[in-house]
Amino acid sequence: MIVTSKTLLKFNTVKDFFHSEVVFDDSKNYQLFFQGRDALLSYVLNLNLKENDTILVPAFFCNSTILPLIDRGINVDFFDITNSLHPNINEIIEISNEKSLAAIIVVHYFGIVRDLSEISFFCSKNNIKLIEDFSHSYCSMVNVNLFGDVKISSLRKTFPVACGGILYREKIRENSSAYLPKSCFFRDFLFICKNLIIKFLVLFNINIFGKWSNSLRNYLRVIFMKKKDYSKKSHFPTEKYSKLTSQIIENKNLVSSKLEKSQENYQFLLNNIDIAGISFLNESSFDKYSAPQVLPVIYHEAENMEQYLRSKGIEAYIWPGEEAPDIGISDTNFPCTNFYNKNLLLLPCHEDLKIKHLNKIIYEMSQFSLKKNERK
Ligand SMILES: Cc1ncc(COP(=O)(O)O)c(C=O)c1O
Repeated sequence: MIVTSKTLLKFNTVKDFFHSEVVFDDSKNYQLFFQGRDALLSYVLNLNLKENDTILVPAFFCNSTILPLIDRGINVDFFDITNSLHPNINEIIEISNEKSLAAIIVVHYFGIVRDLSEISFFCSKNNIKLIEDFSHSYCSMVNVNLFGDVKISSLRKTFPVACGGILYREKIRENSSAYLPKSCFFRDFLFICKNLIIKFLVLFNINIFGKWSNSLRNYLRVIFMKKKDYSKKSHFPTEKYSKLTSQIIENKNLVSSKLEKSQENYQFLLNNIDIAGISFLNESSFDKYSAPQVLPVIYHEAENMEQYLRSKGIEAYIWPGEEAPDIGISDTNFPCTNFYNKNLLLLPCHEDLKIKHLNKIIYEMSQFSLKKNERK
């Protein structure tokens, strides 16, 4: 049995893609971009920054989202997170005494909605824009009110779609119909083909997460994605848009059903993983609007456990892993970020997982622990 970390395309979605039209509600208060990083870039560029203005980013973040800002000459600085994955407000205050902060990015890690009242108060008092990053879960984003000035999200992390960056504001855009997207059939078609191949491999129990497939993926990544030049990356809302993505955005029932089931799966894992050395973040009573994408567990052998689970067909992973900014890995000024970069293992809990999948995760984790004890 294979356990993926994200849901796979449903045959019904593919059928709808070819046979039905998407009707757009054009009174939205968000703009659509190709990726989440483009939504962020667009917002930051529109702040009309002065030379010394700085954007403050958590060190527990991914490089691919920061590089487009840096390549445009924007000053980026980092703060550490706390044990509970909240922004470290004391450190932010210290930095704000030295630098001119234009905006602060905070992340609702793994889809768990964080209480941002403290940082939101600080930002509005000091006239600093607060950007809430919901890239890890679109469903959490649509359910909660804004603490900050804008929210961004990345749909491809929550749903089986090729693309989808969102920039959401409280105020409804004027002239929103100007942004009505045209569908881009070819990109969607390639994505559907790729996703259907994965779906069949999973159905036939072929492990696509083992060592050989990871090496192949990393090899292809190196070939296709050598150092990119982000300075020319588009920061405009996309005109040619994915029909697959639009189908998701317009389907109102999807979010509530996903929310309920992923919460249930999260809670099941939380209640049933009982393995020496494993602990959890203090968020067992998470907000009822959170749609967790994964269950994070703290374990000092996270990397070994990750490899073991993947060799057994379970797509556990460490985030941001190789994508971490160098500062998050090496700088001792960021102890929490460093700790979580090494010790936080993410377990799948999305809505399509059934009890048998969750039991497999729990079983394989205990097998790993047993084998480790035998080796001692
Ligand atoms: C926290 C966070 N923010 C933003 C992004 C950017 O999303 P996208 O990949 O759609 O550009 C990512 C992606 O890795 C992310 O993890």
